[in-house]
Amino acid sequence: MSKELTIQAYLAAEAAHIEVALAKSLPLHWDIPAKLREAFQYSLMAGGKRLRPILVLEAAEALGGSREAAMPAACAIEMIHTYSLIHDDLPAMDNDDYRRGKLTNHKVYGEAMAILAGDALLTHAFYAIAQTSRVHHVPAEQVLGIVEELSVYAGARGMVGGQAADMLGEQGITSLEQLEYIHMHKTSDLIVFSLRAGGRIAGANEEQLRALEIFGKCIGLAFQIQDDILDLTGDERKLGKPVKSDVKQQKVTFPFFIGLSASRLKVKELTEEGKQALHRANLIKPERLFQLADYLTHRDH
Ligand code: IPE
Ligand code: IPE
Ligand code: MG
Ligand code: MG
Ligand code: MG
Repeated sequence: MSKELTIQAYLAAEAAHIEVALAKSLPLHWDIPAKLREAFQYSLMAGGKRLRPILVLEAAEALGGSREAAMPAACAIEMIHTYSLIHDDLPAMDNDDYRRGKLTNHKVYGEAMAILAGDALLTHAFYAIAQTSRVHHVPAEQVLGIVEELSVYAGARGMVGGQAADMLGEQGITSLEQLEYIHMHKTSDLIVFSLRAGGRIAGANEEQLRALEIFGKCIGLAFQIQDDILDLTGDERKLGKPVKSDVKQQKVTFPFFIGLSASRLKVKELTEEGKQALHRANLIKPERLFQLADYLTHRDH
């Protein structure tokens, strides 16, 4: 098998594994309005690359930790990510009709239920993280660190702050620095969280966590630049979401600022920078993280 096929087959197997856990993550016996449960499941189980949960599992593995114990945190970050997508697609934000190859949540369930499905996913993520200790007996002090970081990376100082800056900045961004702030927070922060959470579950020390963080910042920014590139050059069927959405919303993106070829170069440079930080950390089994970083530089969806 070629290296490319191997990584793709591996990613598909990992995604399937994560989906089994995600499907079980909302207890069946909980009394929940049927429409809300359906709207919640609709987006969570709609596919997607499952990149962030894969990073949680791989970071744990890179440090010789347990993948099982990392699964609740993996599910949690996918819930936060899915909620961010549901809200990102709303008419008040990017106003998009397709996501993960299906109609967006608000197109099917209406805006009120889409907002609430997002709220439910966000809240349930914290329930999922608690299971790291309840079910897998990771020490509560370690789990507390993960909860604290999730609040920071997903909240006002993290993804929500980045999304707010993205909305405030439509048409009005004048420096690359401002754009980097948006990308770092709306996208890198959940990626950094994923890597650090996997690391924490495996008992990483501060230096190892810092290396995972630098790696995450670099590949996270590269990931969003690639997303901006694909908005212009991608294939809607592969992406499962509309192209030219940024143009329609008059977003300032990396290609808008520095052009397509400089953006492509930046993706490569950032990936190398991230890999070097990881090299220096001398982890036990970092191979998959390296492979993933390379794969992401030329992803088409
Ligand atoms: C889309 O994320 C939103 C961004 C932060 C660019 P993904 O490209 O990971 O979307 P899914 O999870 O595969 O649908
Ligand atoms: C979204 O960025 C980032 C988050 C949802 C946090 P985009 O608006 O570029 O993502 P897509 O292109 O709609 O997936
Ligand atoms: Mg957006
Ligand atoms: Mg969007
Ligand atoms: Mg985009």
